[in-house]
Amino acid sequence: MTGPQGAVAPGPSGLTVTGVPGLPEISPGADLAGLICDAAPGLRDGDIVVVTSKIISKAEGRVIRADRERAIDAETVRVVARRGPTRIAETRHGLVLAAAGVDSSNTAPGTVVLLPEDPDGSARRLRQAIGERRGINVGVVITDTMGRPWRIGQTDAAIGAAGLAPLRDHRGQADTFGNTMDVTIAAVADEIAAAADLVKGKTAQVPVAIVRGLAGLVTGSDGPGAAALIRPAAEDMFRLGAADVLYERRTVREFTAEPVDPAAVRRAIAAALTAPAPHHSEPWRFAVVESPRARTALLDDMLAAWTADLRGDGFTQEQIARRTRRGEPLRRAPLIIVPCLVAEAAHAYPDQRRSAAERAMFLVAMGAAVQNLLVALAVEGLGSCWVSSTLFCPQVAAGALGLPPGWEPMGAVGVGHPAAPPRPRPDRDPERFLMTL
Ligand SMILES: Cc1cc2nc3c(=O)[nH]c(=O)nc-3n(C[C@H](O)[C@H](O)[C@H](O)COP(=O)(O)O)c2cc1C
Repeated sequence: MTGPQGAVAPGPSGLTVTGVPGLPEISPGADLAGLICDAAPGLRDGDIVVVTSKIISKAEGRVIRADRERAIDAETVRVVARRGPTRIAETRHGLVLAAAGVDSSNTAPGTVVLLPEDPDGSARRLRQAIGERRGINVGVVITDTMGRPWRIGQTDAAIGAAGLAPLRDHRGQADTFGNTMDVTIAAVADEIAAAADLVKGKTAQVPVAIVRGLAGLVTGSDGPGAAALIRPAAEDMFRLGAADVLYERRTVREFTAEPVDPAAVRRAIAAALTAPAPHHSEPWRFAVVESPRARTALLDDMLAAWTADLRGDGFTQEQIARRTRRGEPLRRAPLIIVPCLVAEAAHAYPDQRRSAAERAMFLVAMGAAVQNLLVALAVEGLGSCWVSSTLFCPQVAAGALGLPPGWEPMGAVGVGHPAAPPRPRPDRDPERFLMTL
């Protein structure tokens, strides 16, 4: 039943949410439909049966004897954020939640409860079994408890659904002032899950609730399930969390022809400028090579310089051609940024040792800024490849680009939209890279 503004209007007797007490401890293979129908004899056509995922997991044998941290590893496809021992992780269902949904509460010591393998499938089976048993059409929502990034406290959300429209799309409808709503999609399956949580409770043995009065949401078919509530990655403005942002950067050497948004480049350069630097200096500069003329001059002059170097080394024409092909990532990139060091703030020393140390300080500060740049570009969805190039022919590059005096090029960064997803990152055990003293 849809109200004048597309709201979900309860039936004439209003909306009721009733806990279903009296269910036994659920063991693997339990007939949940039978147990629920026995415990809720008044279940009616158009009701919505809201079930805590934990009893689905228990019935489906998803309680395992395992170390909790290992179980979280196994359930995780992406760690989004981490603080201390707490991990917010994406599961293979696409859900993002604490501990990848692994729960060690309300289960025997030494065991953990994993989320159902396929909560929408579980909801469909339960709905069908209730329908067969009672000859009624009900909606089923399977819930789990989730925190919210910007809100204190947890609430239940739908992780599985069947026989229910999980979303109410109000886009295109007019509000009370006649303004067309552009973005409003009500997550009714989540709202139902949260309402049911009010009566189910966490510790009382009430893992099921019946929501009555929303028959307008109950559908004849299974429908899209709670999978419809998962925001596609491309639309997720907060996709990268504190834990996975650095992992997002990979060297990309193949790009699409799609141009690079200059505003995104400016945002990434602003992020680069947050790098640490010696003596409170600001030694970073960036030559953004936008014009085709500057780009061609840079690439052609660098190629000529490289070729001359290789010829001087005694390589044949064929060998030179093979080697210089490696310079192609920049040619394939729609945009080139040349990071430059301006070391005017470096202190002068009379001896070679301290002069070299001073130089090293500014070079590492440039590395920090370029890393910031590359990570910020990745956050913008842009691929990048930092190549040595200009470091080997600084005068040639400076001349081709007409760099101001004192700008020392630090390689070049090809930027563009990645043509393909990156290869898997090698697994690096930090223990191999550190010593403890
Ligand atoms: C200072 C520097 C110079 C590099 N020069 C080149 C280069 O000339 N050509 C190239 O294809 N990649 C170059 N790279 C990229 C590395 O090959 C790349 O970082 C490495 O393969 C690791 O891959 P990842 O960046 O995806 O983690 C350079 C990287 C750095 C930091």
